[in-house]
Amino acid sequence: MSNPSLLILPGDGIGPEVMAEVSKVIDWFGAKRDLNFDVSEDLVGGCAYDKHGAPLHDDTMAKAQEVDAVLLGAVGGPKYDDLDFSVKPERGLLRLRKEMDLFANLRPAQCFDALADFSSLKKDVVAGLDIMIVRELTSGVYFGEPRGIFEEGNERVGINTQRYTESEIDRVARAAFELAMKRNRKLCSMEKANVMESGILWREVVTEVGKDYPDVELSHMYADAGAMQLTRWPKQFDVIVTDNLFGDLLSDLAAMLTGSLGMLPSASLGAPMENGRPKALYEPVHGSAPDIAGQGKANPIACILSFAMALRYSFGAGEEAARLEQAVNAVLADGLRTADLLGEEGVKPVSTTEMGDAIVAKLEESL
Ligand code: IPM
Ligand code: MG
Repeated sequence: MSNPSLLILPGDGIGPEVMAEVSKVIDWFGAKRDLNFDVSEDLVGGCAYDKHGAPLHDDTMAKAQEVDAVLLGAVGGPKYDDLDFSVKPERGLLRLRKEMDLFANLRPAQCFDALADFSSLKKDVVAGLDIMIVRELTSGVYFGEPRGIFEEGNERVGINTQRYTESEIDRVARAAFELAMKRNRKLCSMEKANVMESGILWREVVTEVGKDYPDVELSHMYADAGAMQLTRWPKQFDVIVTDNLFGDLLSDLAAMLTGSLGMLPSASLGAPMENGRPKALYEPVHGSAPDIAGQGKANPIACILSFAMALRYSFGAGEEAARLEQAVNAVLADGLRTADLLGEEGVKPVSTTEMGDAIVAKLEESL
């Protein structure tokens, strides 16, 4: 059998430097755990625009459809701020999500023991936190029509449309219930059914799907109250399922509970392919952080943990994923910190590459 295929899209800003550390990890798993991948690399975002005049070339899109998993760094930067909306770096990412139909975006927010003091919230609020946000990723206001800026009378009007079909809600709800079954069997669905019809439908469909999962305790919350509860007592949650826009906001919020956006991985999953693997794209939740790019300050952990999610969700290698997560835990316990995590006393500042090397060294120790 041939090796599973991976398409690496480092992207812009800190994307390439954090991805370089992931490559070390991938190489280690090939050399030491006999987990080999056929890796290819391509452009997405601003760098793709610079070369092709579009943030995602059709050939790259086609490649992404064929591989077993895509690993993405980050897209965007100030250099591209004035580009036409249709060719902005983010459009490349959104095209991947949409055309691969990656409807379930898994964003775990886990507080590593060593970082519990680092959160802006009190330690007992975040210590041991382990929640999973499932964000719908291919519909809602991100893609709904009509959209645009139109003339109306003597002024312009900006329009975006929140739109969800029953089947779109049904499939992401099922993904969330399935995850809840493997975790603590609690699912909280968030919408704004008090002001939005799409929210009313969301709540109805999630409730209906819930009948197929009687072992999961289902609750509903308005998304604004959900944001408040996430900061008040986040440990009340296990899995949260929500729409594209609320999921974007709530996952940034949840990420910060853990201390730094630089820690948080994500998996975007679609329907199973012929080989049984889901269509999949893995990426850190953080952005391209152009202000620190190229200075060795970026934290590669979110991107490395995204590869751990690939091991778990695409390649059936849950134990190896746990090995990698354990290695990350161990370097943090040793006090190693990239620039985003400095501030506590007694920690050891390290660069992006030093962090990657330290994680590989811990993997080596794990044998
Ligand atoms: C995210 C990001 C993206 C989004 C941007 C870069 C398009 O914020 O993945 O959360 O809004 O979905
Ligand atoms: Mg976001």
